[in-house]
Amino acid sequence: MNLSAPPWICPSILAADFARLGEEVSDVLAAGADTIHFDVMDNHYVPNLSVGPLVLSALRKAGVDACIDVHLMVKPVDRLVEDFLAAGADYITVHPESTEHLHRTLSMITDGGAKAGLVFNPATPLDALEPVIDMLDLILIMSVNPGFGGQAFIPSSLDKLRQARRLIDISGRDIRLQIDGGIKIDNIGAAAAAGADAFVAGTAIFGADNYADTISSMRDEIADA
Ligand code: DX5
Ligand code: ZN
Repeated sequence: MNLSAPPWICPSILAADFARLGEEVSDVLAAGADTIHFDVMDNHYVPNLSVGPLVLSALRKAGVDACIDVHLMVKPVDRLVEDFLAAGADYITVHPESTEHLHRTLSMITDGGAKAGLVFNPATPLDALEPVIDMLDLILIMSVNPGFGGQAFIPSSLDKLRQARRLIDISGRDIRLQIDGGIKIDNIGAAAAAGADAFVAGTAIFGADNYADTISSMRDEIADA
């Protein structure tokens, strides 16, 4: 896997045409995406059901070798961490609420050879971050409540991005700061200005007629922020 330098554009497959998933993934990568954001929902931790490790394995078998960041919205989470490691995840991001033993879950991810991410819902403070920040490669700030694509961006997530950016800078670690939910061309600059350097977008990319134009407009907004 070749990791590109940030900023990263991370299209969420949740908004892709699942009947043509392999083609959709190839198309967004050809259009300039940096990672494929793979949203996993279990109808328990969140009120929706998406896809599991078999679908990730299928993408790998079809020859997708790009960075895939898996966002696990499932509870309990540890069993699926193992399955997604085996399926070829590069990053695995978990919610602190989804595990009784966060340190153990993050250790499973890094011991398994993947990069570890921790994700915070809009109402979840960053309290869980400090004890484990040295284990992390990615921090994800949710700018919608997890469970569905196509929701409106929650503006208070900008403050949380600024807070997380400060903590990352203090840590001195190379940690991506990712934002997820309601990201579009007209608000991606604000997220960049608040410190994000990785941007998940589902509807805004897969819902557009031209993926490359959309990703390049997003990059322009980030550069101007
Ligand atoms: C929400 C997911 C997001 C979502 C983003 O639970 O984690 O990744 O698919 O979709 P948009 O960009 O449409 O808000
Ligand atoms: Zn997500």
